[in-house]
Order: sequence, then structure tokens, then C-alpha cells
Amino acid sequence: MLEGFALNTGSELVAFANECPHWHVDLDLGIGDFLDPPTGRILCRNHGALFHPLTGVCERGPCVGLALERFELERDGDDAWVSVPDAELPPEATP
Ligand code: FES
Repeated sequence: MLEGFALNTGSELVAFANECPHWHVDLDLGIGDFLDPPTGRILCRNHGALFHPLTGVCERGPCVGLALERFELERDGDDAWVSVPDAELPPEATP
């Protein structure tokens, strides 16, 4: 199952997969907190990698230069629609 999260950067609403490119594990260790307030960067809680909040590119840590998978996000008024590639919907959600 692919999990993700949306982040309001202040200038843009973005969405990424919750998967670190270093070890391909959850960034947040299941706590649902992705931001490192002192740096304003997305934090991987496993080894402390920091990712740019708009590009998802790792700027510090063991995976410098690699990037989080960014999902396409479309605004519709107060709603946001996120497109997740190759997502499998549960049978009850399939049209
Ligand atoms: S698993 Fe994310 S920095 Fe190592």
C-alpha cells in the first residue's frame, strides 16, 4: 500500500509519497508529522534526512540528491485532488 501526505508550504500545496528514497521506509515512523520546523524541510525520522518542501530533493542526509516521489495535486476550491500513480483502489471504491 502506498501512503502519502500533503503539505502546505505557505506558497503551495504539495503531496509526496511517505517513502524515503534511502531505505524505502516511512518517513514519519507512523506518527504523521513530516515537517522539521527549525529548517522548514521535510524530515525523515529514520536517519534525519532533510528534503526541500517543494521539490522533495534530499538536501542533507544519507540520500543527498535523491528525491521523494511527488504526487500531482490539483486544487478545486477548498478541495485538493491527489493523483497517485498505480494506486490500487479497494474493491468497494472501484467505480
Ligand atoms: S531511511 Fe530515510 S534517511 Fe535513512
